[in-house]
Amino acid sequence: MTVLAFETSCDETGAAVVRDGVVLANTISSQITLHAEYGGVVPELATREHLRNLPSLAKAAIETARVEWDHVDLVAATRGPGLPGALLVGLKAAQGLAFSRNIAFIGIHHHEAHLYSPWISGHPPRFDLASFSPNVSLIVSGGHTLLVHVRAPLDHKVLGETLDDAAGECFDKTARLVGLAYPGGPQLERMAEGGNARAFEFPRPLLDQANDHFSFSGLKTSVRYFVRDHPETLQNTKVRRDLCASVQAAIVEVLVTKTVRAAVRVGARAVTVSGGVASNRTLRGEIESACGKAGIVLRVAVPALCTDNAAMIGVLAELKARQGLP
Ligand code: KG4
Ligand code: ZN
Repeated sequence: MTVLAFETSCDETGAAVVRDGVVLANTISSQITLHAEYGGVVPELATREHLRNLPSLAKAAIETARVEWDHVDLVAATRGPGLPGALLVGLKAAQGLAFSRNIAFIGIHHHEAHLYSPWISGHPPRFDLASFSPNVSLIVSGGHTLLVHVRAPLDHKVLGETLDDAAGECFDKTARLVGLAYPGGPQLERMAEGGNARAFEFPRPLLDQANDHFSFSGLKTSVRYFVRDHPETLQNTKVRRDLCASVQAAIVEVLVTKTVRAAVRVGARAVTVSGGVASNRTLRGEIESACGKAGIVLRVAVPALCTDNAAMIGVLAELKARQGLP
């Protein structure tokens, strides 16, 4: 089965071709520089940019995959959640293609697709269902922080989510408070290198609560007050590094502890991590050591598939189509 898939839920435009679990092409266009000037994603600009880029990305994906349009059996697109205007671009393009070529269309839930991205790896990237095992999946990006129990392929239950800001949003906003540019996550990680993560004590929201939810707005506010009361910390590079390392440590400790605790409680054999924040090396290192201690297998999405991409949309579309799901 050959699937052409689109992803346009936020600020990455993606098109991919997946055939029998193999990602033959995965084109992506990031809008980071466009939105950087505004310190966050501007929905109207994102929509226009998707409209501008999707046709050429789709064409490039088809060409890279060396498939003929006539060989596409299924068209898929992210149906949500995401920015409404942005979603409409990919969704309507896919539906229009499917309608005009008389082939099937499938709308994919964005979060559900993230659950499968850690199982796509290799050269060329392949979705390996045989290696799949029941897992607890942490999805961490600028828009979402979710903990999901994946009991079997296509059988999952949301255990918890953020009650306010997403983890990536916390990275971005605290980075801004310490004078770093958007998107702050990678910048804060860089600034934290060599810093002392124990130099400053920031709250670990909901860490000791017996639920699987997250909350990051209190942590962000605490950094805001700290910077307001100690503006001198931003003047000294060493102290600024310590500050960034301490903020990063607070976010990472909450994510890692709650994820591994949930995995142990439900008896999951594996933990998976995806979403933009999954690129964070401290998070990757800490969760690897926590899973190791708990005897749990860890699968983190490969860096190229951590951020939003159409490959994960295509992989899930094919899985669903094979099961005869609408
Ligand atoms: O998945 P993604 O590309 O887009 C969505 O939000 O859906 O995630 C982007 C988020 C941003 O908040 C960005 O700051 C964060 O992921 N991020 C990071 C790192 N790389 C990206 N956060 C911490 N450390 C990183 N290395
Ligand atoms: Zn996402």
